[in-house]
Amino acid sequence: MSVANLYPVTEAFAAQALINQDKYKEMYQQSVINPEGFWREQGKRIDWFKPFERVKQTSFDDLHVDIKWYLGGTTNVSYNCLDRHLEARGDQVAIIWEGDEPDQHRHITYRELHEEVCKFSNALRGQGVNRGDVVTIYMPMIPEAAVAMLACTRIGAIHTVVFGGFSPEALAGRIADSESKVVITADEGVRGGKRVPLKANVDEALTNPSTHCVKQVLVVQRTGGQVPWHNHRDVWYHDVMKVASSHCAPKELDAEAPLFILYTSGSTGKPKGVLHTTGGYLVYASMTHEYVFDYKPGEVYWCTADVGWITGHSYMIYGPLANGATTLLYEGIPNYPDVSRIGQIIDKHQVNILYTAPTAIRAMMAEGKKAVEGSSGKSLRLLGSVGEPINPEAWHWYHETVGQSRCPIVDTWWQTETGGILISPLPGATALKPGSATRPFFGVQPALVDNLGNLIEGPAEGNLVILDSWPGQMRSVYGDHDRFVQTYFKTFKGMYFTGDGARRDEDGYYWITGRVDDVLNVSGHRMGTAEIESAMVAHKDVAEAAVVGFPHDIKGQGIYVYVTLNADVEASEALRQELRQWVRKEIGPIASPDVIQWAPGLPKTRSGKIMRRILRKIAVGEYSALGDISTLADPAVVQQLVDTHQGMQ
Ligand code: PRX
Repeated sequence: MSVANLYPVTEAFAAQALINQDKYKEMYQQSVINPEGFWREQGKRIDWFKPFERVKQTSFDDLHVDIKWYLGGTTNVSYNCLDRHLEARGDQVAIIWEGDEPDQHRHITYRELHEEVCKFSNALRGQGVNRGDVVTIYMPMIPEAAVAMLACTRIGAIHTVVFGGFSPEALAGRIADSESKVVITADEGVRGGKRVPLKANVDEALTNPSTHCVKQVLVVQRTGGQVPWHNHRDVWYHDVMKVASSHCAPKELDAEAPLFILYTSGSTGKPKGVLHTTGGYLVYASMTHEYVFDYKPGEVYWCTADVGWITGHSYMIYGPLANGATTLLYEGIPNYPDVSRIGQIIDKHQVNILYTAPTAIRAMMAEGKKAVEGSSGKSLRLLGSVGEPINPEAWHWYHETVGQSRCPIVDTWWQTETGGILISPLPGATALKPGSATRPFFGVQPALVDNLGNLIEGPAEGNLVILDSWPGQMRSVYGDHDRFVQTYFKTFKGMYFTGDGARRDEDGYYWITGRVDDVLNVSGHRMGTAEIESAMVAHKDVAEAAVVGFPHDIKGQGIYVYVTLNADVEASEALRQELRQWVRKEIGPIASPDVIQWAPGLPKTRSGKIMRRILRKIAVGEYSALGDISTLADPAVVQQLVDTHQGMQ
């Protein structure tokens, strides 16, 4: 192993770690040689009402993709996250809530959380929500978001959390696709001192005829701000909680009962409803949380993700709570009231483990030492990164400035679809290389294939696939199993295709190189180019649009849009602004284009396919690297685009 830029596990860390190098090797071996035996043992980390009879029944064969774990077992997620902890740690803090303003916080014990969840479960039942019904949760980062999720799991309802930054249009699409019966929201959210009109957004979404499935809207009072009210449909959370009983037996659910749906973007079409189920998901979320974060009882763990993303599900709520951890939930943004906020929260709550995204690290890094001024960071023991490749500069800054060269960094690679972390260092076992997600977690068999699907051995670069199932894997696309098979199992037969490219080095370490499909990763948020394009062309003045990503210092990738206007429309700065606003309205602020370039025509093949490769090069000014353009239907458009791009510089 080359020693330059290698960070071996320190003796001090290894001595106290749950998994050291020898243990990792031994357990990994077992997990791939005898998956049944390995996962049978791990299945015991959660409580079952009825023990499972069979560990796994999984097939990646594209003719009959079938993924089932812990067959025959029955359990309940909220029972595992709450009830089973009451005896030993009922009075331990489960959730530390840090509000948007630095003087606001709450501590909620396991006992209190249990009581709140039981009451809300009864309240949901009172609103007619039953096992198998879908509930949309559109909430700010407040404890009631966790209560709502856990209450759904308690009664066997399926939640679908929609990120509070999504627009009414995007929300309506998700409500309609999942056929939600109830929406849970708040009057307003608060982020960075600004109010987010969540209830008003829900009202607007529900004017869309496709959302008539919704019968009730439950509203948590966060700000007390004025909100429109519809008596026949809207119900205050505090009103139903006042009268709800605090006794609610957890429903006994099948291991494969649907747990939640989470929408995510792909390379084509509308966002997909990724479906996760009960038993396997919880085993995997809890196991990865414990081992990747080397979590020990009593530690304070902080994952900065929003509850609207998979990271918020698996590593802010379910994994930590299943493990009886203390998890911190922060309502605000990293730079409010100023850039030192993260450091202040770490000190205030004595955070031991911090899990955040490279985009947040880069934003702090841009402020230099200011981000850590006035805070000691002494409580920190371990750092984590997720969501996009972490560039070595950001890694080093995170390691030295936040981690004071003392804390290992776990660079965790995974996806909404995988339910939990698949490739990551284990901090007591794996020597780190900045920028590499390193090695597979137990039971995970990554491989690289060329574009024809041939396995590539040794150090190489290729498409990243996974050869066998793991318990946290998604089971289907909600309502469209065919799309599930098409998206993940058709490209390379018999393998799960991640959509990512990766390099494997001489030490067997994986380096994720990014998406190989038309999916962007903007500030760690996944965006389909097709989604932004279809929002663009829905504007009356737009004839056609093509979206590509380009390197962006803070966001990782920025959004670059080429727009062809209708023949009678004049390009102007005002129209450019209007189009930006339009995309914010159609999808949400996270999809707001960074650059809009007017394009009289787009480079297309004779069969009409847009050549994004060329557009990507023009966006970064690499005019000499455009490659062969002779196969285009109209090669002259390329020069026009180059000229316009040069004019914009
Ligand atoms: O491209 C990979 C990137 O994020 C994608 C998954 O996005 P999403 O489903 O939104 O889940 C994000 C949180 C798990 C992946 O296909 N990605 C995620 N983590 C990393 C990463 N790329 C490089 N390094 C990572 N650690």
